[in-house]
Amino acid sequence: MTKVIAEAKVIGQRVLSRDVRQIDFLVPSIAKHALPGQFVNVQTSRHTAPLLRRPFGVANVDRENGVLTIIYRILGEGTQLLAEACSGDRVSIIGPLGKGFDLKAKKPLLVGGGLGLAPLVYLAQCFCPEPVSILMGGRTETELFWQQLFQDLCEAIHVTTDDGSLGAKGTVMAMLPELLQKGGYDRVYVCGPEPMMRAVAAEAARNGVPCQISLEKYMACGIGACLSCSCGGVHKRLKVCTDGPVFWAQEVTEW
Ligand SMILES: Cc1cc2nc3c(=O)[nH]c(=O)nc-3n(C[C@H](O)[C@H](O)[C@H](O)COP(=O)(O)OP(=O)(O)OC[C@H]3O[C@@H](n4cnc5c(N)ncnc54)[C@H](O)[C@@H]3O)c2cc1C
Ligand code: FES
Repeated sequence: MTKVIAEAKVIGQRVLSRDVRQIDFLVPSIAKHALPGQFVNVQTSRHTAPLLRRPFGVANVDRENGVLTIIYRILGEGTQLLAEACSGDRVSIIGPLGKGFDLKAKKPLLVGGGLGLAPLVYLAQCFCPEPVSILMGGRTETELFWQQLFQDLCEAIHVTTDDGSLGAKGTVMAMLPELLQKGGYDRVYVCGPEPMMRAVAAEAARNGVPCQISLEKYMACGIGACLSCSCGGVHKRLKVCTDGPVFWAQEVTEW
């Protein structure tokens, strides 16, 4: 795998919601190799704190122009600093890291919730022009600005909200069983909160559809050296940063 450490130039920030931003970096050396499901490790400050880089899934790539995009929620110090970055600023990025999604599906169903939808944008783009469907879940209508990001990439967008303010009421599980029974999907790709991924993986298994999950663990090094991201696998302990973050659902026994 080709991973590099590069000085990326910020070329734009876009406000997607109150606390979610999209940031575009000019970083051809990483953009040309990044695959859907992989992540990058971003140094959010030029100073000593915060010391650790922050991991973010690759949300889009424009190979021709060398642009890599991430979509992030402002949570703490690192993401607040990232939100303050301006066009022209330089940010150190290591990537692409980890193993991405299997791309052999003929009829994929993408399932996402929260910031788990970020890497699915790039996944949907890589399947285009193959028909892709997405099932997305959020708490309320205001969280589902994501629809705009998928509208040119997906032939079908199914939406659920906990309060019923948009789409079907409930979690993605309100729609998934019927979609799997009637849709003829040959792969499910899920990224989102862990309870959602567990429920989706179990439903996919019940319907005999292979399912990939994208795990998020606290990461210190991001390159397989510190073991902070380990989880249980069928045959051995797995490192989310190098063995994943994407796994076949049945590979992981303890998340
Ligand atoms: C493989 C992977 C891909 C991710 N992709 C995205 C993405 O596309 N968009 C997005 O918004 N977020 C993503 N995250 C989560 C993102 O890394 C954290 O939100 C970010 O590191 C928070 O940093 P902070 O300094 O703002 O917050 P902090 O104040 O450091 O912490 C806020 C919260 O973030 C968690 N966190 C902090 N540092 C890390 C770290 N190094 N690794 C994992 N979790 C951490 C903490 O447990 C805490 O709950 C991803 C995480 C992983 C592991
Ligand atoms: S983050 Fe260090 S081993 Fe995965």
